Amino acid sequence: MKIIVVGATGTIGKAVTKELEARHDVIKVSQTDGDYQFDMSDEEQVDKFYNQIGNFDALVITAGKVHFGLLEQITTEQWYIGLKSKLMGQVNLVTHGLKFINDGGSFTLTSGILNQDPIKFGASAGMVNGALEGFVTAAAIEMPRGTRINIVSPTMIQEAADSYGPYFRGYIPVPASTAAQAYVKSVEGLQSGKTYRVGW
Ligand SMILES: NC(=O)c1ccc[n+]([C@@H]2O[C@H](COP(=O)([O-])OP(=O)(O)OC[C@H]3O[C@@H](n4cnc5c(N)ncnc54)[C@H](OP(=O)(O)O)[C@@H]3O)[C@@H](O)[C@H]2O)c1
Repeated sequence: MKIIVVGATGTIGKAVTKELEARHDVIKVSQTDGDYQFDMSDEEQVDKFYNQIGNFDALVITAGKVHFGLLEQITTEQWYIGLKSKLMGQVNLVTHGLKFINDGGSFTLTSGILNQDPIKFGASAGMVNGALEGFVTAAAIEMPRGTRINIVSPTMIQEAADSYGPYFRGYIPVPASTAAQAYVKSVEGLQSGKTYRVGW
């Protein structure tokens, strides 16, 4: 399969890429590195990328930023970081990618544990994760030509524990290679409309 991984250079994306590269042609994307670079929150850049690479079989997104901060202190601008980057970045890749995805192809997005098992500073992450999961559930019933859409919701990833550990006391981290299996299930399986929880 011809598979695009957006966020391929990140903690989760590297593990997903490694797993998929063993069997498929993987196009690696990030904002600053990889085979192609673009900002998924910018629709023009997303369109330009799709026109360059043409048709594909699967798109995996392991990218997107959110602001972490106290509920009472998050500014409008900070709420919009997650809305523009993690939420609309992923939605843009799906809606603009529908013209280019092959029959029976799949989109796999990323949310996270924080809309169901929240932490201090996680209100924006929780908001965006919930919206993404709602989008996937609803979009799945309208996917054309046998195409599919799923989302992976990992708990804290072991390799990120140095940065995030202090905010996730009591959460048991999972290796990125374990999370990668959920993406593989989405890409190589036949399910659609699913949220795959990893490690919780
Ligand atoms: N790490 C965890 O414990 C964990 C747990 C649950 C959910 N998640 C979610 O999983 C996703 C990936 O997390 P991660 O820890 O793997 O992140 P990461 O290590 O920071 O890597 C993020 C990747 O996404 C790319 N990226 C970021 N913003 C982008 C944009 N606007 N357009 C295109 N590419 C962009 C980055 O490229 P550049 O480096 O070039 O900017 C990088 O390749 C995030 O949405 C995060 O919320 C993470």
